[in-house]
Amino acid sequence: MDASAPPSDSGTVLVAYATTEGQTRAVAERIAVVADRRGAETTLVNLDAPHADVDPASFDAVFVGGSIHGGSHQRSVSEFAENHRNALRSVPSGFFSVSLSAASDDPEIREKAEEYVERFTANARWSPDRTATVGGALKYGEYGFLKRFVMRRIVAKMGGDTDPRRDYEYTDWTRVERFAEEVLDLAAVSSVSRTNARG
Ligand SMILES: Cc1cc2nc3c(=O)[nH]c(=O)nc-3n(C[C@H](O)[C@H](O)[C@H](O)COP(=O)(O)O)c2cc1C
Repeated sequence: MDASAPPSDSGTVLVAYATTEGQTRAVAERIAVVADRRGAETTLVNLDAPHADVDPASFDAVFVGGSIHGGSHQRSVSEFAENHRNALRSVPSGFFSVSLSAASDDPEIREKAEEYVERFTANARWSPDRTATVGGALKYGEYGFLKRFVMRRIVAKMGGDTDPRRDYEYTDWTRVERFAEEVLDLAAVSSVSRTNARG
C-alpha cells in the first residue's frame, strides 16, 4: 500500500476513490484486500487528499470509485477520470459507485444507481471493463443536525430506515469482492499471482 514501494512480481493495482462519509473508503479498502490477497502491490489513493494525483498508466489494473450525493459523484472523481481517460483506457479497469439507490428493493430506484454510472462514464468518455453499483450506508450518528434531518426525510419517502440513534450499512461485501476479482481476472497480474497461489 506504499506508493513508493517497488513494483511487485504479481503486478500493481491502483484503487483511487473519493468519499464524503467514509463508506466508499471502506469499499476501496476491501478491493485493496482482495488485490493484496493475490500478491499484488496495491496503492490506495484518496482523490480529495492534497497532491493526490497519480498516473493510472503505471499500474496493471485500476479501480476508480466515488459515492452519490444529490445525484452526482464527487467532483474529484470525475476530474480524475476526465484528466486520465487515455491512461484509463489502456489498462484493465473497474468503476464503482456507492449510493443508497443501489441498495433499494425498488427496481426503478436501483435503475437510478445504474444511470448515475452511465452518466459518469459518458461524461468522462471512459468505458471501464467492469462497473459496480454498491449499496452505501446511512450514518445518522455522524451526520450534523441538518444532514440528519434531510436524510431522514428523503429516506422516509423511500420507505427506508429512519432511526437516528443508529447507523445502517447496506453494502454487499460478497458482491464487492466479486467485482474486484472480475477486474483482477482481466489483468495479467492475476494469472501470475494465481499461479503463485496455487504453488
Ligand atoms: C447529503 C446526502 C445526499 C445523498 N444523496 C444521495 C442521492 O442523491 N442518491 C443516492 O442514491 N444516495 C444518496 N446519498 C446516500 C450516499 O450515497 C450513501 O450514504 C453513501 O454510503 C455515501 O458514501 P460515502 O460515505 O463514501 O460518502 C446521500 C447521502 C447524503 C448524506
